Amino acid sequence: MNQPEHNPEDPRNVRSLVIVFSYHHNNTEKIARTIAGVLGAEVKTPQEIQPEQLREYDLIGFGSGIYSATFDPSVLTLADRLSFAHGRKAFLFSTYGAPAFAVTRDFVADNHEEMRGKLRIKGYEVIGDFGCAGWNTNSFLRFFGGINRGRPDSGDLANAETFARAMLAKVRSTENP
Ligand SMILES: Cc1cc2nc3c(=O)[nH]c(=O)nc-3n(C[C@H](O)[C@H](O)[C@H](O)COP(=O)(O)O)c2cc1C
Repeated sequence: MNQPEHNPEDPRNVRSLVIVFSYHHNNTEKIARTIAGVLGAEVKTPQEIQPEQLREYDLIGFGSGIYSATFDPSVLTLADRLSFAHGRKAFLFSTYGAPAFAVTRDFVADNHEEMRGKLRIKGYEVIGDFGCAGWNTNSFLRFFGGINRGRPDSGDLANAETFARAMLAKVRSTENP
């Protein structure tokens, strides 16, 4: 009898979930859907998730637009409500509205710091960070069309795909060292 073929590249071998809060222009949701496509994952909002449901997953992505230099309170609060899960793998992703010239090397990591700290306290291992520009018409910016118009663009989505593949590879390499 023929055995079903085992494909180690099949994303379904890693149970993944992508959680995102995105409201300004759905910029971060575009990144979430791209990453989820690679991982074969569902996309949920923090409001759609009960903390105990995360037990079912090997890899969880937490994403948000950046508002006042951090994640949305709904994502931060979800992290506060998680139970301790030693070594569960997570990654963080975001879109920011700062103009490219103002973005330093540590900018994405700095915006992720509060969320990273909350996950660490809960035993999660954050294995990667992704950030890119997103269209921003917050406040007075709307009077002249905003900044980062057209972002995330196709290049950003391609980078998000590459990032998602790297996250899968990292989880697999720790599961099968
Ligand atoms: C209320 C508000 C606050 C913001 N604060 C920041 C900020 O502190 N730093 C930044 O780089 N961008 C900031 N932005 C821009 C957003 O991070 C950017 O537009 C992002 O792509 C929005 O993501 P979303 O469309 O998924 O909500 C802010 C936007 C809003 C609406």
